[in-house]
Parts: sequence; C-alpha cells; structure tokens
Amino acid sequence: MYLSREEEKILQGGSGEAKRLAMKILCAIGDFFHAEKLIQIESAHVSGVSYKTGGEALIEVLEKFVESNPKTAIMSSLNPSGMDRKNWKEMGINDAFAAKQNKIIKMYQSMGILDVCSCIPYELGNVAKNGDHISFSESSAVTFMNSFFGAYTNRESGLSALASAIIGKTPSYGLHLTENRKPDVLVEIEAKLINPTDYGLVGYSIGENFGSKIPLLQKVSSIDIQQTKYISAAMAASGSIALFYINEQSCGKLERKDSEKMIIDQKHLEELKENFAPTSQPDIVMIGCPHTSVSTLKIISELLESPVSDRCKLWIFTSRPIKLVAESMGYVQKIEKMGGRVFCDTCPVVCPMPRFDLALTDSIKAAHYLPTMSKIESAAESLKNCIKIAMGGKIQ
Ligand code: F3S
Repeated sequence: MYLSREEEKILQGGSGEAKRLAMKILCAIGDFFHAEKLIQIESAHVSGVSYKTGGEALIEVLEKFVESNPKTAIMSSLNPSGMDRKNWKEMGINDAFAAKQNKIIKMYQSMGILDVCSCIPYELGNVAKNGDHISFSESSAVTFMNSFFGAYTNRESGLSALASAIIGKTPSYGLHLTENRKPDVLVEIEAKLINPTDYGLVGYSIGENFGSKIPLLQKVSSIDIQQTKYISAAMAASGSIALFYINEQSCGKLERKDSEKMIIDQKHLEELKENFAPTSQPDIVMIGCPHTSVSTLKIISELLESPVSDRCKLWIFTSRPIKLVAESMGYVQKIEKMGGRVFCDTCPVVCPMPRFDLALTDSIKAAHYLPTMSKIESAAESLKNCIKIAMGGKIQ
C-alpha cells in the first residue's frame, strides 16, 4: 500500500508509539486486502469494550496504546460495555468485573473516544452524509450506516476501528470503493411487514441465505429508522451483510440478469415467526438490541398498562444519554413504576447475564446470540407481545 511521507514517518514512530501501532495495524490490513492507499475518514465507532468479551487481552492491548497518551484524530464513539456503570450491582456484576470494566472505559475516554457505550451512535450524533468514508466496528451499525445514510464503511474489528480513530484514515478497499457497492442479489418482499421484529425476521433469513452479498430489496415502499435498525442487526448476525438497498431508485438495476433471487412471501414470514416463537413462559423479557430509542421507550411506557408479572423480569437496554431524555419525559419512571428496569451502557449479549431459563425479546439478533453468548435459551415476539407477556399474558 502506498504511504505518503507523513504516513511513513508515523509508521517509523516519529509521532509516538500509539500512532506507530495504529499505522502498523492499518498497513497490515491494507496490504492484506491490496488497498492502494489510505483515505481520510469522517468518524469512527469502536467496539471491543466489554470485559466479558475482551478479557485481559483487551486490557493489555489498550495499555499499549494509552502509554503514549494518544488522542483520536476524528469524532469517535464507543460500543456497549459489559455493565451499567451505575447500577451494575443490580445486574449481578461483582466488584472485580466492575473494576476491570471501568479501567477499560477510562482508557478509551483518555484517548478522546465518546463514552456513549451504545451500538446506535447514529442516534447520538455520530452520523454521516451520503458518500462519507467512516470506520465502524459494530456489525449492526455498519449495515445501518452503509444502507440508511449511504456512508462507506467496511465491517471493521474493534482494533482496526481504534487504529482508524487514532490516525483518522482507513485503507481504501472493499466497501470504500464504489465499484464494490453494487447489489448482487434480489429479494422480493411480498409479505406484509408490520413491526420492526418482522423486519428482523426477514433480515435474518436474507443473511442466512446470502452470507456477505449485497441484497437489493424490492416491493418495500419505504423503511424507517427502527425497521432499518432491526433488519440491519439481523442480517449482520445470521450472515455478514454490510450493505443493502431498498428499491432500484437507490442503486440502479442489478447488472446480471441471472442474479440469485429470493422471494419472501407471507407463508415464509409465518414460518420464520414460528421458528422463533416461545414454547413456554419466559422468566425475563429483554428489549434493546440494538439499543432502545427514546420513541420505543415511550411506546413501552404506554404499553405497560399493568405491572410486570412477579414471575418475569422486564429489562430494557439503552444508552445513558437516551435514558436521560426519556427520564425528562417521564417514560423511564413509568416503566420502572410498573416493575421494569432500564439499564444503560451495556446490552443483553455483552454483559455477564445472571441465570435465566428463557429470555423473550423483540430482537432477532439478540435471540440469535443469547444461547451462545449468555447461555440463555431465547425466543422472539413483537414488542407489543413481549410487553403483554411481561405483564403476565400467556403465550399462545
Ligand atoms: Fe447492540 Fe448488543 Fe445487540 S451491541 S446490536 S445490543 S448485541
């Protein structure tokens, strides 16, 4: 990969150890993917925050970086950590874990990375314009940024996004090149998608079928932020899809007439719902994968017409800034008065969850990861049904 004189100097250590390390990482990736050069990026989002998933290795790597006191070159934000930074005891987290987790967050803060601890940084100011090059490392946010805003990012790892945040650049390959962003498979959605969970189910099926391809979704009249969040998260979990398009106006026709095609009709959607439906009463309902928006906290507070059943917990996950806004509107107070809990800074997958038998969620991504990452059986239903069941409603 070509390096300018300035970039060469950084690689030789002329700008300090952290920048040398970051440049070394970017060069290794660039060389591996045959990138021609580094390009300027507008912002970064860094995953790899939870002590549960990163462990001591994460601390050791971050210690190497912070030794020379680097600062990020661009706007950068942080993914969820392994605990609520205020109410961690209530989540069953022990002192030793909390100390390690706080240490990790402090190291990121010291580099100037915004400690939003959220996977929806695009609802917290880390947004992009069509065509902006960025470096994001949370898979659901990658798909969201590429597909909703038309930003250009690859699926970065936590380390490569951190390196990009420090240098302000990324190797130019993959989805940073316009010629690699053309749709190559067609999905006709004939089913009626009613809520974000339906979008998640469809996304899950697309990811399972098409791996890392770029789908063009047809017969979808429009898609809003919540629907995009859920479909992006699911297709990036069952597959590794990083970009999709809605209707031809956004990307033009498919070049190959014989491209693979998938039709999702009502029968297919009903089968998907069936696969994720609960078969027994859950002992916890979890909402917030991706993190809950203010608008969804409002909906939950309205759906909670009676208290949460004493046989089921209701845990909702969001970012601290979003919780603050929802508190100022009284949504959080209403949810907690009814027996629910709103946790911040973490998520059901990256925190060490206490033992539960069955978690019900409205998120297909969370339902996918909970059995392996948190050793909790999972099922999925629409938000409305999740809250109904949390209030003691019987499963159908
Ligand atoms: Fe976000 Fe955690 Fe889901 S990071 S997308 S809430 S697995």
